[in-house]
Amino acid sequence: MKGLIIKNAYWDAPELTHQTERVGAELNALGVETDIVRNGRFPSVTDGRAINRVGGYDFCVYLDKDKYASELLEKCGLRLFNSHKAIRACDDKMQTYIALTNVGIEFPLTLPGTLCYTAGAKVSESTLDEIESQLGYPVIIKTCYGSRGSGVYKADDRGKLRRIAQKLIGVPHLFQKYVECGGKDLRVIVVGGKVIGCMERAGNGDFRANIGRGGSGRVYEADGKLTALCERCAEVLGLDYCGVDVLVGGNGYEICEVNSNAFFEEFERVTGINVAGAYAGHILGVMEKRL
Ligand SMILES: Nc1ncnc2c1ncn2[C@@H]1O[C@H](COP(=O)(O)OP(=O)(O)OP(=O)(O)O)[C@@H](O)[C@H]1O
Ligand SMILES: [Mg+2]
Repeated sequence: MKGLIIKNAYWDAPELTHQTERVGAELNALGVETDIVRNGRFPSVTDGRAINRVGGYDFCVYLDKDKYASELLEKCGLRLFNSHKAIRACDDKMQTYIALTNVGIEFPLTLPGTLCYTAGAKVSESTLDEIESQLGYPVIIKTCYGSRGSGVYKADDRGKLRRIAQKLIGVPHLFQKYVECGGKDLRVIVVGGKVIGCMERAGNGDFRANIGRGGSGRVYEADGKLTALCERCAEVLGLDYCGVDVLVGGNGYEICEVNSNAFFEEFERVTGINVAGAYAGHILGVMEKRL
């Protein structure tokens, strides 16, 4: 059996190298051949039909969020881990919240940013009134396509809210109730529908707990409620593998976001859990059932 591992054409960071090489090594240890390929090689293209330009693979571990290449690869017949649909639902935070709506999953009250098609438009004061009255201060503002905390803002007053809303007026974004959790959150890894471990992350003097922003992790024992919540998220979104970010405030556990290709270098280091091994085992199990 042979697997294709896809990573981003441009982005290079130690955690990405770690993720792709660890998954590759664990698949190799199970007797599966792998190649790591950047999506800049255009693994799939279209001229009215989907064309696979990297033939000879039984499956693809898609460690990027590129929705075009992932959908085309699926149209070529490859089984993707995660599926294109799951990656797409996680890539756009507002889309994730919509998918998790009406299925009994708690997340903070969220208002979708209104799209603006008019060049030079000023943010509407009545929209700011509505955000202020529904969410209060501080309020969280997020770009829908953020990464490593870079598109997540906190506004403590109307002036800052107005400045951020104005800056993001042409970009897909959302407004969300702030959950006071002391700059900490939980990162829960789910593989094949089961929670395999949890880490508490603490921000480095910031309300954002991202490891990519200097946060640090420690082992956290997931209880039954947290486990059920995260497994339900993975089930609803159809994810083979994910890292669920959970806020723990006055209302208990609330979903912050779901990462379809969560990095796990710090998670493996802190918890000692073999995340790549669990993912490789899941992939092999799924593929053997298909053959
Ligand atoms: N509503 C909220 N209340 C309090 N803190 C929040 C809230 N939303 C996000 N945060 C903090 O900000 C951090 C980053 O937010 P989030 O996970 O949504 O974006 P991101 O990590 O940039 O996204 P990605 O994982 O796609 O890179 C969270 O880990 C959490 O610590
Ligand atoms: Mg996050």
